[in-house]
Amino acid sequence: MTQNTSTKDQPVDMTEQFRQERAARIRAMAGDKALKETAQAFTIASTRAGYSYNFSWLGRPIIQYPQDMMALQEIIWEMQPDCVVETGIAHGGSLIFSASMLTLLGGDGYVVGVDIDIREHNRAEIVKHPMASRIRMIQGSSVDGGIAQQVCNSVAGRKNPLVVLDSNHTHEHVLRELELYSPLVKKGGWLVVFDTVVEQMPADFYPDRPWGIGDNPMTAVDTFLKKNDRFVIDEAMDAKLAVSMAPRGYLRCVKD
Ligand SMILES: C[S@@+](CC[C@H](N)C(=O)[O-])C[C@H]1O[C@@H](n2cnc3c(N)ncnc32)[C@H](O)[C@@H]1O
Repeated sequence: MTQNTSTKDQPVDMTEQFRQERAARIRAMAGDKALKETAQAFTIASTRAGYSYNFSWLGRPIIQYPQDMMALQEIIWEMQPDCVVETGIAHGGSLIFSASMLTLLGGDGYVVGVDIDIREHNRAEIVKHPMASRIRMIQGSSVDGGIAQQVCNSVAGRKNPLVVLDSNHTHEHVLRELELYSPLVKKGGWLVVFDTVVEQMPADFYPDRPWGIGDNPMTAVDTFLKKNDRFVIDEAMDAKLAVSMAPRGYLRCVKD
C-alpha cells in the first residue's frame, strides 16, 4: 500500500486514490458527447481504411484494434484464465496474443482456436511459433455440434476459461456461439464478442457481407442477454476504450 500524509492526521492511500480518480474519469468519459462523436468518426474512417489489418503480435498479423488488445490484456490479468477459447483464427495473431499472455501468467494455460478454414500458410507459421506449445487448433464451423463438442472436450477440467468470439459476424451465428460457449465461462470470468461495432456503422458499410445493421454480433448479444442473466455488459470498458470493435461486447459473468 502506498501512503502519503497529505492532511494533518488522515493518511491517504495513493493507490486507492489513483483508482478512484481513474474510475471517475471513465464515468465522465461515458457522458462525453464530443469524445464519442470523435471516436465514432475515427472508427468509421479507420475501418474504411482497413486499420484493423495494420498490426501484428509477436510477428503474426492480428486483426484487432490496439485498444481491444489492451482491454484483453487487462481482462486476462484480472481473471487469470487457465485457458482461452477463441472462434476465428485467421492469421493466428489473436491465438499468439492469448498464448503469450498465458505464458506471462505462468501455469499451464493454453488456447483453443476454431476456424472453418485454417489456411495452410497460416497453420505452418502458427505451429512453428515459439508460442505453439500453448495452442490447439480445430478446423470446422464453430456452430457445428461436433466441433463445439471437440472444443468443450479440449477444455474439460479447466477451471476458468476466457471465451472470445470473432468468427462469422451474423446475428444467428453469434447467438449460436453464445449458446454453445457461454456455459464454459465461470462466475468472475469474461466472454468477449467482437464486431458488435457493426451495429453502429453506416447502413451501407458492409455491402459484400451477410451482416449489417440489425443482423450482427450486437443484436446477438442483446437477444442472448434477454434470456441469460449470467452475463452483464461491462459499460466501463466501453467508456474507457472509446474506440473499440467490441462495444457492448465485453461481458462479465456474474453468476455460476
Ligand atoms: C476476423 S477473422 C479472425 C481474426 C482473429 N481473431 C484475429 O484477431 O486476428 C474471422 C475468421 O473467422 C473465420 N470463420 C468464418 N466463419 C466461421 C465459422 N462458421 N466457424 C469458425 N470460423 C469461422 C474465418 O475463416 C476467419 O479466419
